[in-house]
Amino acid sequence: MIPQSFIQDLLNRVDIVDVVGRYVQLKKGGANFMGLCPFHNEKSPSFTVSPTKQFYHCFGCGAHGTAIGFMIEYSGIGFVDAVKELAQNVGMVVPDQDRLLPAQRAEVQAKSLALSDVMVKASDYYRQELRGAQNAIAYLKKRGLTGEIAAKFALGYAPDGWDGLRAVFSRYDAPELVEAGLVIDKSEEEGAGRKRYDRFRDRIMFPIRNAKGQVIGFGGRVLDGGEPKYLNSPETPLFQKGNELYGLFEARQAIREAGYALVTEGYMDVVALAQLGFPQAVATLGTACTPTHVHKLLRQTDHVIFSFDGDAAGRRAARRALDACLPHATDNKTLKFLFLPAEHDPDSYIRELGAEAFEQQVRDAMPLSQFLLNEVTRDNDLRTSEGRAKAQFEAKPLLQAMPPSGLRLQIVRSLAQATQTTPAEIEALFELAQPVARTKVAPARTRRTPPMGLERQMMRILVAHPDLAAELDQGALDAAAQLAPDNAEMLLQLIGACQALGEQASFAALAEQLRAVSTDFDPLITEIAADDTESDPQAARLELAGAVRKTKMQLLKAELDRLVATGLTTDEARTRYREVMQLQEQLRRQAEVERMPRT
Ligand code: UTP
Ligand code: MN
Repeated sequence: MIPQSFIQDLLNRVDIVDVVGRYVQLKKGGANFMGLCPFHNEKSPSFTVSPTKQFYHCFGCGAHGTAIGFMIEYSGIGFVDAVKELAQNVGMVVPDQDRLLPAQRAEVQAKSLALSDVMVKASDYYRQELRGAQNAIAYLKKRGLTGEIAAKFALGYAPDGWDGLRAVFSRYDAPELVEAGLVIDKSEEEGAGRKRYDRFRDRIMFPIRNAKGQVIGFGGRVLDGGEPKYLNSPETPLFQKGNELYGLFEARQAIREAGYALVTEGYMDVVALAQLGFPQAVATLGTACTPTHVHKLLRQTDHVIFSFDGDAAGRRAARRALDACLPHATDNKTLKFLFLPAEHDPDSYIRELGAEAFEQQVRDAMPLSQFLLNEVTRDNDLRTSEGRAKAQFEAKPLLQAMPPSGLRLQIVRSLAQATQTTPAEIEALFELAQPVARTKVAPARTRRTPPMGLERQMMRILVAHPDLAAELDQGALDAAAQLAPDNAEMLLQLIGACQALGEQASFAALAEQLRAVSTDFDPLITEIAADDTESDPQAARLELAGAVRKTKMQLLKAELDRLVATGLTTDEARTRYREVMQLQEQLRRQAEVERMPRT
């Protein structure tokens, strides 16, 4: 975990205008900077960057965030990487994430730099070698690829020989070559004749790049029927298969344009699809799809279609992908599954049946809900009690893995219907967290109803000026706690977050912090980000004090009404009645003081 205080310091130190300005051409327009939004296609600028709020906001597509958020969305990198990159730009050192000593950390950093360097050199070499390798070029041509697409994916060729890389590196015995997975060292084995040799020999090389475009691994395909068909880099400090998607770097822009990402199973599928009109394709690297994969994709787009080969292995892989999707299946995401006819993968399908037919397959892809229901009912005879119970049994872990949402409720409904039960019974039986279905209760909602009136006013001021939270006294907190439960919880959560940031609290730091804990505040943050009027801190301070006072007043009035309704029959009630009257009077006087003009 990176400490929150560091994030705040970082956001104070970097200037979002510089950060965004590196990628988007910005022009000064009033207090803000304007440009063409990098997150959707547009002809006239609706993307604004506010130097005072240190926040960007697009009036066209609603994208918004801090400098950190921008790096994440724009580069597709993770939170930690975004923080690191920004910190590096302003000369800050990210504090011990893994509790490493500074010296150890420097060592880790030096190592990963050395490994990246080795990977770049190797990749350049393989690419260079492809130019002169007639057999490899012939193979790629036979697979229908053009030079253009080979260049786009930086395809290369590892020549047939034991130590081609010896010519590339001044020290073939450098430990980095082994650690990067480029060279295999047999010297430890007894009587091994050859000590070191290249891992990849006589193979077409597919460099695997991370979100920043750095080469982190390779896949190498044999030219003939040799085994294994694909040889991959081993896991290294740079490369973890379960986290990476082949082609994501190359596909990023196309995913945005197409509005969805297509996930395939193979290197060749990605490259062939890119050539045949589907540049939005990526592939898992011979591993099952993981929740990390899904998370990475959903950072790029709300719509992901998984394509699976039409064999038994494909079906198993689809099931793994379903499992990986469930924790991320919220109502604003679309996750679909496409099953090609047996014996086909996307590459072979599109070459045999054409792009139009494939496009149709994409359109007909099966929604997650349907795939889930198919999975649990497929092998069970729903005409028997046992079969219906078994279907429920199989559905239980899947539904439990889903966040409470409208979609989950829909699936619960369908399952209830198919198994002759009610949605409420299913939710009780499955012990679903925050059951969405209740007998005879209002429709599902995934977000708390937005607060209105004074609550809303207080939250608005606090989001815009989180430093003011430090001025709220215990009385204000007590008042907040007495509001309607949802509002009270939200307001207290917000006050807590603001106060945790301390006196230097800024809108950007708060937005960054809230983003990690809850989506409930998104509408407010959007609203403040989109608000062009600069609000004066002094005016905001008075407004907040006024709202707190009015809230206290309303609560006292309600209490008074309750006391009167009881008829004031006990001493206790009468004493409290007088107290409440006094408290009201105090508040009135306070209001007059505040309303007095300052001289
Ligand atoms: P496939 O066997 O379906 O190959 O493996 P493919 O992608 O269709 O390749 P071509 O069209 O025959 O050239 C799918 C993926 O599984 C991984 C690779 O990532 C491959 O792209 N794989 C497969 C391996 O890692 N090693 C292997 O030996 C085979
Ligand atoms: Mn194939």
